[in-house]
Amino acid sequence: MIEEIVERIRLSSKYKDINEKTILEIVKIELPKHRNERDLIKAVKSKLHQIHGAFLGSKDVEKVKDLLLVLERGDRNIREIAKEILKLHQSTRERMDIYEEVYRGIFEVTGKPNSVLDLACGLNPFSIPFMNIEGPILYYAYDIDSTLIESINKFLDILSYPRLAKRKDILFEDIEDRTDICFIFKFLPIAERIKKGFSLKLLNSLNSKFLIVSFPLKSISGKEKGMLENYSKTFEPILKEKYKIIKRFIFKNEMFYILIERG
Ligand SMILES: C[S@@+](CC[C@H](N)C(=O)[O-])C[C@H]1O[C@@H](n2cnc3c(N)ncnc32)[C@H](O)[C@@H]1O
Repeated sequence: MIEEIVERIRLSSKYKDINEKTILEIVKIELPKHRNERDLIKAVKSKLHQIHGAFLGSKDVEKVKDLLLVLERGDRNIREIAKEILKLHQSTRERMDIYEEVYRGIFEVTGKPNSVLDLACGLNPFSIPFMNIEGPILYYAYDIDSTLIESINKFLDILSYPRLAKRKDILFEDIEDRTDICFIFKFLPIAERIKKGFSLKLLNSLNSKFLIVSFPLKSISGKEKGMLENYSKTFEPILKEKYKIIKRFIFKNEMFYILIERG
Protein backbone atom coordinates (compact mmCIF):
# COMPACT_ATOMS: atom_id res chain seq x y z
CA MET A 1 0.00 0.00 0.00
CA ILE A 2 2.83 2.39 0.90
CA GLU A 3 4.54 1.74 -2.46
CA GLU A 4 1.27 2.48 -4.27
CA ILE A 5 1.00 5.83 -2.52
CA VAL A 6 4.58 6.66 -3.49
CA GLU A 7 3.79 5.81 -7.12
CA ARG A 8 0.66 7.96 -7.05
CA ILE A 9 2.65 10.92 -5.78
CA ARG A 10 5.34 10.36 -8.42
CA LEU A 11 2.70 10.45 -11.18
CA SER A 12 2.47 14.20 -10.69
CA SER A 13 4.99 16.07 -12.87
CA LYS A 14 6.01 18.12 -9.85
CA TYR A 15 7.37 15.07 -8.02
CA LYS A 16 8.38 12.72 -10.85
CA ASP A 17 12.10 13.53 -10.49
CA ILE A 18 12.22 13.22 -6.71
CA ASN A 19 14.06 10.30 -5.16
CA GLU A 20 11.58 7.44 -4.42
CA LYS A 21 13.31 6.70 -1.13
CA THR A 22 12.67 10.29 0.07
CA ILE A 23 8.96 10.02 -0.74
CA LEU A 24 8.72 6.54 0.76
CA GLU A 25 10.29 7.57 4.06
CA ILE A 26 8.13 10.70 4.32
CA VAL A 27 5.03 8.56 3.68
CA LYS A 28 6.14 6.26 6.53
CA ILE A 29 6.60 9.22 8.89
CA GLU A 30 3.25 10.78 7.97
CA LEU A 31 1.22 7.54 7.81
CA PRO A 32 0.33 7.27 11.52
CA LYS A 33 -0.80 10.92 11.63
CA HIS A 34 -3.59 10.67 9.03
CA ARG A 35 -6.82 8.75 8.93
CA ASN A 36 -7.38 8.53 5.19
CA GLU A 37 -5.26 8.26 2.05
CA ARG A 38 -6.30 11.66 0.69
CA ASP A 39 -5.07 13.50 3.80
CA LEU A 40 -1.91 11.43 3.87
CA ILE A 41 -1.05 12.28 0.24
CA LYS A 42 -1.80 15.95 0.88
CA ALA A 43 0.49 15.97 3.93
CA VAL A 44 3.34 14.23 2.07
CA LYS A 45 3.06 16.67 -0.85
CA SER A 46 3.12 19.57 1.58
CA LYS A 47 6.34 18.20 3.18
CA LEU A 48 7.89 17.72 -0.27
CA HIS A 49 7.05 21.32 -1.07
CA GLN A 50 8.70 22.48 2.18
CA ILE A 51 11.91 20.56 1.56
CA HIS A 52 12.22 20.95 -2.23
CA GLY A 53 9.53 22.71 -4.29
CA ALA A 54 9.60 25.92 -2.27
CA PHE A 55 13.23 26.39 -3.29
CA LEU A 56 13.49 25.02 -6.78
CA GLY A 57 10.64 24.71 -9.28
CA SER A 58 10.71 22.27 -12.20
CA LYS A 59 10.71 25.25 -14.60
CA ASP A 60 13.98 26.48 -13.03
CA VAL A 61 15.52 23.05 -13.46
CA GLU A 62 14.50 23.19 -17.17
CA LYS A 63 16.11 26.65 -17.47
CA VAL A 64 19.36 25.23 -16.10
CA LYS A 65 19.30 22.63 -18.89
CA ASP A 66 18.80 25.35 -21.53
CA LEU A 67 21.62 27.50 -20.14
CA LEU A 68 23.97 24.52 -20.21
CA LEU A 69 23.14 24.01 -23.89
CA VAL A 70 24.20 27.61 -24.54
CA LEU A 71 27.43 26.92 -22.66
CA GLU A 72 28.08 23.74 -24.65
CA ARG A 73 27.64 25.63 -27.92
CA GLY A 74 30.49 27.85 -26.72
CA ASP A 75 28.56 31.12 -27.20
CA ARG A 76 29.16 32.39 -23.65
CA ASN A 77 31.78 31.91 -20.94
CA ILE A 78 31.44 29.64 -17.91
CA ARG A 79 31.28 32.34 -15.22
CA GLU A 80 28.60 34.27 -17.10
CA ILE A 81 26.35 31.20 -17.50
CA ALA A 82 27.06 30.00 -13.95
CA LYS A 83 25.92 33.41 -12.68
CA GLU A 84 22.65 33.15 -14.61
CA ILE A 85 22.04 29.68 -13.20
CA LEU A 86 22.83 30.76 -9.63
CA LYS A 87 20.35 33.61 -9.99
CA LEU A 88 17.50 31.10 -10.52
CA HIS A 89 17.41 29.95 -6.89
CA GLN A 90 16.85 32.26 -3.96
CA SER A 91 19.67 30.82 -1.79
CA THR A 92 22.30 31.07 -4.49
CA ARG A 93 20.95 34.37 -5.87
CA GLU A 94 21.45 35.98 -2.45
CA ARG A 95 25.08 34.85 -2.43
CA MET A 96 25.85 36.10 -5.92
CA ASP A 97 27.75 39.23 -4.80
CA ILE A 98 29.46 37.50 -1.88
CA TYR A 99 30.36 34.04 -3.22
CA GLU A 100 34.03 34.85 -3.79
CA GLU A 101 34.34 36.48 -0.38
CA VAL A 102 32.57 33.56 1.34
CA TYR A 103 34.85 30.96 -0.25
CA ARG A 104 37.95 33.07 0.46
CA GLY A 105 36.88 33.23 4.14
CA ILE A 106 36.35 29.46 4.25
CA PHE A 107 39.51 28.38 2.42
CA GLU A 108 41.66 30.78 4.47
CA VAL A 109 40.86 28.55 7.43
CA THR A 110 40.60 25.10 5.81
CA GLY A 111 43.14 25.46 2.99
CA LYS A 112 42.14 24.88 -0.63
CA PRO A 113 40.38 21.48 -0.83
CA ASN A 114 41.15 18.52 -3.07
CA SER A 115 37.71 17.09 -2.37
CA VAL A 116 34.35 18.60 -1.44
CA LEU A 117 31.03 17.05 -0.46
CA ASP A 118 28.11 19.41 -1.11
CA LEU A 119 25.03 18.02 0.67
CA ALA A 120 21.48 18.97 -0.36
CA CYS A 121 23.40 21.01 -2.89
CA GLY A 122 20.59 22.66 -4.89
CA LEU A 123 22.32 24.90 -7.44
CA ASN A 124 25.40 25.52 -5.29
CA PRO A 125 27.81 23.41 -7.44
CA PHE A 126 27.36 26.07 -10.16
CA SER A 127 29.37 28.37 -7.87
CA ILE A 128 32.57 26.32 -8.45
CA PRO A 129 33.93 28.99 -10.89
CA PHE A 130 33.76 31.47 -7.98
CA MET A 131 35.81 29.31 -5.59
CA ASN A 132 39.07 30.27 -7.30
CA ILE A 133 40.56 26.81 -6.82
CA GLU A 134 42.90 24.95 -9.12
CA GLY A 135 40.68 22.23 -10.57
CA PRO A 136 39.80 19.59 -11.30
CA ILE A 137 39.03 18.44 -7.76
CA LEU A 138 36.65 15.73 -6.54
CA TYR A 139 33.32 17.52 -6.11
CA TYR A 140 30.59 15.23 -4.73
CA ALA A 141 27.15 16.83 -4.86
CA TYR A 142 23.98 15.19 -3.53
CA ASP A 143 20.36 16.22 -3.89
CA ILE A 144 17.03 14.44 -4.34
CA ASP A 145 16.15 15.83 -7.81
CA SER A 146 17.38 13.65 -10.68
CA THR A 147 17.11 16.29 -13.45
CA LEU A 148 19.10 18.74 -11.35
CA ILE A 149 21.75 16.07 -10.70
CA GLU A 150 22.02 15.35 -14.46
CA SER A 151 22.65 19.04 -15.10
CA ILE A 152 25.26 19.28 -12.34
CA ASN A 153 27.12 16.30 -13.83
CA LYS A 154 27.03 17.97 -17.24
CA PHE A 155 28.48 21.13 -15.70
CA LEU A 156 31.19 19.13 -13.88
CA ASP A 157 32.02 17.54 -17.24
CA ILE A 158 32.35 20.97 -18.89
CA LEU A 159 34.76 21.96 -16.08
CA SER A 160 36.68 18.67 -16.70
CA TYR A 161 35.78 17.52 -13.17
CA PRO A 162 34.69 13.89 -12.58
CA ARG A 163 30.91 13.40 -12.70
CA LEU A 164 30.34 12.94 -8.98
CA ALA A 165 26.85 14.40 -8.55
CA LYS A 166 24.40 11.75 -7.28
CA ARG A 167 20.70 11.65 -6.63
CA LYS A 168 20.86 10.76 -2.97
CA ASP A 169 18.77 11.37 0.09
CA ILE A 170 21.17 12.50 2.77
CA LEU A 171 18.82 11.67 5.64
CA PHE A 172 17.68 8.21 4.59
CA GLU A 173 20.63 6.92 2.54
CA ASP A 174 24.25 6.34 3.61
CA ILE A 175 26.95 8.91 2.93
CA GLU A 176 30.20 7.03 2.47
CA ASP A 177 32.49 9.57 0.86
CA ARG A 178 35.24 11.09 3.00
CA THR A 179 36.30 14.53 1.77
CA ASP A 180 38.46 17.43 2.94
CA ILE A 181 35.43 19.69 3.31
CA CYS A 182 31.69 19.15 3.55
CA PHE A 183 29.17 21.92 2.84
CA ILE A 184 25.71 21.80 4.41
CA PHE A 185 24.21 25.09 3.34
CA LYS A 186 20.75 26.06 4.58
CA PHE A 187 19.66 22.49 5.18
CA LEU A 188 19.67 21.61 8.90
CA PRO A 189 16.40 23.48 9.65
CA ILE A 190 14.85 21.51 6.74
CA ALA A 191 16.09 18.22 8.22
CA GLU A 192 14.41 19.10 11.52
CA ARG A 193 11.18 19.82 9.65
CA ILE A 194 11.12 16.24 8.36
CA LYS A 195 11.73 14.84 11.81
CA LYS A 196 13.08 16.29 15.01
CA GLY A 197 16.61 15.09 15.77
CA PHE A 198 17.52 14.44 12.12
CA SER A 199 20.27 17.08 11.95
CA LEU A 200 22.26 15.38 14.69
CA LYS A 201 21.78 12.00 12.98
CA LEU A 202 23.10 13.53 9.73
CA LEU A 203 26.12 15.19 11.39
CA ASN A 204 27.02 11.93 13.13
CA SER A 205 27.03 10.10 9.80
CA LEU A 206 29.67 12.36 8.20
CA ASN A 207 33.35 11.66 7.68
CA SER A 208 34.76 14.99 6.47
CA LYS A 209 37.53 16.81 8.30
CA PHE A 210 36.00 20.28 7.94
CA LEU A 211 32.33 21.05 7.94
CA ILE A 212 30.83 24.31 6.71
CA VAL A 213 27.25 24.76 7.84
CA SER A 214 25.04 27.72 7.03
CA PHE A 215 21.65 29.01 8.16
CA PRO A 216 19.33 31.54 6.53
CA LEU A 217 18.72 34.68 8.57
CA LYS A 218 15.57 35.53 6.63
CA SER A 219 12.68 33.25 5.73
CA ILE A 220 11.61 32.81 2.08
CA SER A 221 9.01 35.52 2.65
CA GLY A 222 11.79 37.90 3.78
CA LYS A 223 10.93 37.98 7.50
CA GLU A 224 13.71 37.88 10.09
CA LYS A 225 11.78 36.45 13.04
CA GLY A 226 14.81 36.24 15.40
CA MET A 227 16.38 33.51 13.29
CA LEU A 228 19.94 34.32 14.34
CA GLU A 229 19.19 33.79 18.04
CA ASN A 230 16.95 30.80 17.39
CA TYR A 231 19.31 28.93 15.12
CA SER A 232 22.42 29.64 17.25
CA LYS A 233 20.62 28.44 20.37
CA THR A 234 19.13 25.34 18.75
CA PHE A 235 21.96 24.20 16.51
CA GLU A 236 25.25 25.17 18.24
CA PRO A 237 24.93 22.38 20.87
CA ILE A 238 24.17 19.89 18.07
CA LEU A 239 27.13 21.06 15.97
CA LYS A 240 29.46 20.80 18.96
CA GLU A 241 28.73 17.11 19.64
CA LYS A 242 31.13 15.85 16.97
CA TYR A 243 32.78 19.06 15.75
CA LYS A 244 34.57 22.07 17.22
CA ILE A 245 33.49 25.52 16.08
CA ILE A 246 36.50 27.35 14.61
CA LYS A 247 34.73 30.42 13.32
CA ARG A 248 31.26 31.90 12.81
CA PHE A 249 30.59 34.69 10.35
CA ILE A 250 27.64 36.42 8.79
CA PHE A 251 27.40 37.53 5.17
CA LYS A 252 24.24 39.32 4.13
CA ASN A 253 21.32 37.06 5.12
CA GLU A 254 23.29 33.95 5.97
CA MET A 255 25.24 32.74 9.00
CA PHE A 256 28.17 30.37 8.36
CA TYR A 257 30.03 28.09 10.76
CA ILE A 258 33.44 26.59 10.05
CA LEU A 259 33.84 23.41 12.08
CA ILE A 260 36.59 20.83 12.49
CA GLU A 261 36.15 17.18 13.45
CA ARG A 262 37.11 16.55 17.07
CA GLY A 263 40.39 14.61 17.19
C1 LIG B 1 17.25 25.49 0.86
S1 LIG B 1 17.76 24.51 -0.47
C2 LIG B 1 19.51 24.69 -0.21
C3 LIG B 1 20.32 24.45 -1.44
C4 LIG B 1 21.82 24.67 -1.27
N1 LIG B 1 22.35 23.87 -0.17
C5 LIG B 1 22.12 26.13 -1.06
O1 LIG B 1 22.13 26.61 0.08
O2 LIG B 1 22.36 26.81 -2.06
C6 LIG B 1 17.40 22.90 0.05
C7 LIG B 1 17.84 21.78 -0.90
O3 LIG B 1 17.79 20.55 -0.17
C8 LIG B 1 17.39 19.52 -1.04
N2 LIG B 1 16.91 18.43 -0.18
C9 LIG B 1 15.81 18.43 0.62
N3 LIG B 1 15.74 17.29 1.33
C10 LIG B 1 16.82 16.53 0.98
C11 LIG B 1 17.30 15.25 1.40
N4 LIG B 1 16.67 14.53 2.31
N5 LIG B 1 18.45 14.79 0.85
C12 LIG B 1 19.12 15.52 -0.09
N6 LIG B 1 18.71 16.75 -0.51
C13 LIG B 1 17.58 17.25 0.03
C14 LIG B 1 16.33 20.19 -1.91
O4 LIG B 1 16.10 19.49 -3.10
C15 LIG B 1 16.95 21.59 -2.11
O5 LIG B 1 17.74 21.63 -3.28
